[in-house]
Amino acid sequence: MAVFDLPDFDQHERVAFFQDKASGLKAVIAVHNSNLGPALGGCRVWKYATDTEAATDVLRLSKGMTYKAAMAGLALGGGKSVIIADAKTEKTADMMRAMGRAVDSLGGRYIIAEDVGSTVADMDLIRDETPHVSGVTGGAGDPSPSTAHGVAVGIGAAVKHKLGRDSVKGLKIAVQGVGNVGHHLCDWLHKDGAELFVTDINEDAIRRCETEFGATRFDSDPAAFWAMDVDVLAPCALGAGVNDATVPVITAPVVAGAANNVLAEERHGEALRQKGVLYAPDYVINAGGLIDVARFKLDMDLEAAKKKLLAIHGTLTAIFERSDAEGQPTSEVADAMAEERFLAS
Ligand SMILES: NC(=O)c1ccc[n+]([C@@H]2O[C@H](COP(=O)([O-])OP(=O)(O)OC[C@H]3O[C@@H](n4cnc5c(N)ncnc54)[C@H](O)[C@@H]3O)[C@@H](O)[C@H]2O)c1
Repeated sequence: MAVFDLPDFDQHERVAFFQDKASGLKAVIAVHNSNLGPALGGCRVWKYATDTEAATDVLRLSKGMTYKAAMAGLALGGGKSVIIADAKTEKTADMMRAMGRAVDSLGGRYIIAEDVGSTVADMDLIRDETPHVSGVTGGAGDPSPSTAHGVAVGIGAAVKHKLGRDSVKGLKIAVQGVGNVGHHLCDWLHKDGAELFVTDINEDAIRRCETEFGATRFDSDPAAFWAMDVDVLAPCALGAGVNDATVPVITAPVVAGAANNVLAEERHGEALRQKGVLYAPDYVINAGGLIDVARFKLDMDLEAAKKKLLAIHGTLTAIFERSDAEGQPTSEVADAMAEERFLAS
C-alpha cells in the first residue's frame, strides 16, 4: 500500500502502523496536523476488508478533526485511529491495552477517545497504559446534549442571517432523526417556540417528541424530509443527504443539523448556494460535543467551554457573510477559514 499516494494523505504529519502479535492488535494512528495543539480524535474499531480501506478511513477522519477543532477555536489538532477488528467478536482487553501503549509511544501528539466500536470501558483500559486518553470514566460523558446545544445555537445564527429572525419562535423546523442529538435539539427548539416536524425509523423516538414537544410526525422516507415545506431542515440521522436527487426538491431556505458529511460531494455545497439555500457546514455546527470532550484535556472550566459553544453563532455568521461577499459556498468558506487558522500558527 502506497500511503503517500492515497488521495486523503493530504500532508498528514504522521501515520503510524502498529501490530501486537500477542493481543492481535492491528492499528493505524493518523495525526493530520498538530499546529494548534495535540491531535484529539476517536478510535474506530472496525473490520475493514483491506489495509488500504483502513488507512483511507483514518486519513479522511483525522483530516476532518483538524478542521473541526480549528473552527471550534480549540487548541487541538486533528487525529484519529482505527483498530482493524470486529468490535463485537475480536476486541479484547489485551488489545485495548496494546493500543494504549501504541498511543503512549507517540508521546502525547495524539489523544485517543471513543468512536464507533470503542467505549468508555475501552478508554479506561487504555488509561492503564497512557495518560493521553479522553472519554474515560469520570471524564466527559455523553457528548450529545452539548452537540445539540451547539446545533440549536447554529440554527439561531442561520435564521438570523437568512430570515432576519432573532429566534426560531414560530418557525417550522423539520428534524430527521430524533435519537440522542435530535431529541435534545427538539427540546431546545421547542423551548424557543419553534413548530416541530419529526421523523425517525424508531417509533418510540417519534412518540417521545410528539408527547414532550407537541411535534408532528412525517414520512421517514428521506425524500419526504428534503421536500418538507419548512423554514429549517435539520438532518440529525444520516450523512450524504444533500445529493443529486435531493437538491432539486429542497425548498426550505436553511439546512442546519447535526449529521456528519451532509453533502454527498463537495459540489453540492455550490448547488445549495445557487438555489439560495443557506447551509450551515456540518463540522462547524456540530462541534459542541468535541468542545465538551476537549474541556477535560485542555483544563477548560465549564464557563469557558460554554463560551466556546456559544461562539458557534459568531463563527457561522462569519462564514455566511464571507460566503455572500465572495460568492463561494459556505462549505468551502469554512474549509478556507479552518486552513487559515491551523496553517497560520
Ligand atoms: N452524538 C454526538 O455528539 C454527535 C456529534 C457530532 C455529530 N453527530 C452526528 O449526528 C447524527 C446523530 O447522532 P446521534 O448521536 O444522535 O445518533 P443516534 O443513533 O442516537 O440517532 C440517530 C437517529 O436517527 C434515526 N435514523 C436512522 N436512520 C434514519 C432514517 N433513514 N430516517 C430517519 N431517522 C433515521 C435513528 O433511529 C436514531 O434515532 C449522526 O450523523 C452523528 O454522526 C453526533
